[in-house]
Amino acid sequence: MGSEPVLPKGTRPLDVQVAGHRHGAGKTKLGMLQSEEDAHLIYKAVQNPPRGTRELEFYQQVFSPACTDVQLLQLKRFMPHFAGVYYYKETPDVPYLKLENIVSKFRKPCVADIKMGPCTYDPTASAEKIASEVQKFPAVVRIGFQFTGLQVHDPTRNKTECLDKFWCRSLKEEEFLINGVGKFFGLDHHLRKDVIKALLEKLQLIQDWFDTQTELAFYASSLLVVYEGEVQNASRHGTTMNGPESSDLLKTKSDGTEVNSDHPLVDVRMIDFTHVFKSETKDENYLFGLRNLIRYLNELLQLG
Ligand SMILES: Nc1ncnc2c1ncn2[C@@H]1O[C@H](COP(=O)(O)OP(=O)(O)OP(=O)(O)O)[C@@H](O)[C@H]1O
Ligand SMILES: [Mg+2]
Repeated sequence: MGSEPVLPKGTRPLDVQVAGHRHGAGKTKLGMLQSEEDAHLIYKAVQNPPRGTRELEFYQQVFSPACTDVQLLQLKRFMPHFAGVYYYKETPDVPYLKLENIVSKFRKPCVADIKMGPCTYDPTASAEKIASEVQKFPAVVRIGFQFTGLQVHDPTRNKTECLDKFWCRSLKEEEFLINGVGKFFGLDHHLRKDVIKALLEKLQLIQDWFDTQTELAFYASSLLVVYEGEVQNASRHGTTMNGPESSDLLKTKSDGTEVNSDHPLVDVRMIDFTHVFKSETKDENYLFGLRNLIRYLNELLQLG
């Protein structure tokens, strides 16, 4: 048992955190922080080696101005911007990763942490670690990805619901499409086809990258998906909220970027690089998850 973590001056626990270690009372591990002054920045405490240092070194390598590796330069587009290492006065021995907050641009963010790959432990994992990972969500071997936390906004009731890792793990394989993926995209009130289509374009770019790279293997890494849950803007675009026509309430260009970048519709980034390893082959583990995620999203489009 350690003592409670210090909250450095000018910070607060991250406003929207759907998974992972949370900073707060009763917790001993350090969680994610947000700057009181600049909501667009978050601070992730570097966990103990080797996990924390592996992630730190990975961000440093990819974002180094001296980086010339073509694959890494391509990968950078899919990661939150890394603005260096930061130390707080109150905790001088803890390095923090200073990262772009990809949620803060959204008014009513709907957020999913999607852990990718049927294998969620790295090649150095002990038998105990493997056993503990495998029992968390056994269906992942067939589904290929899993939710570890969700936040969903229902504009028809103006309610935001948070679903934790236990809720996510309790999903049965046969209900995963409807009550898992479907729930996140509003199937129970208004399926966000606009979001799903824009997301599919972005996921395709990530898949294209994985189809060509043979340098890295990502274990237990997540895709953080965020979309705009507030749909009032529909009126500005001359559409209504409940009809199928609302699917184009925020126009997405064919390259997947939104017309109005101040008000994005959807963002997806790769996060959590505590188990990234060097490799010499395609990351078939991640690719299996990615292809299945894309398949689930296409199936969802057929339902709504
Ligand atoms: N760049 C980001 N912008 C906004 N929110 C983020 C970002 N990175 C992480 N988060 C939020 O924090 C949560 C935890 O992030 P992450 O997976 O990096 O930490 P962790 O699981 O606690 O880390 P570790 O695996 O190192 O123990 C995510 O589920 C998400 O809600
Ligand atoms: Mg995580």
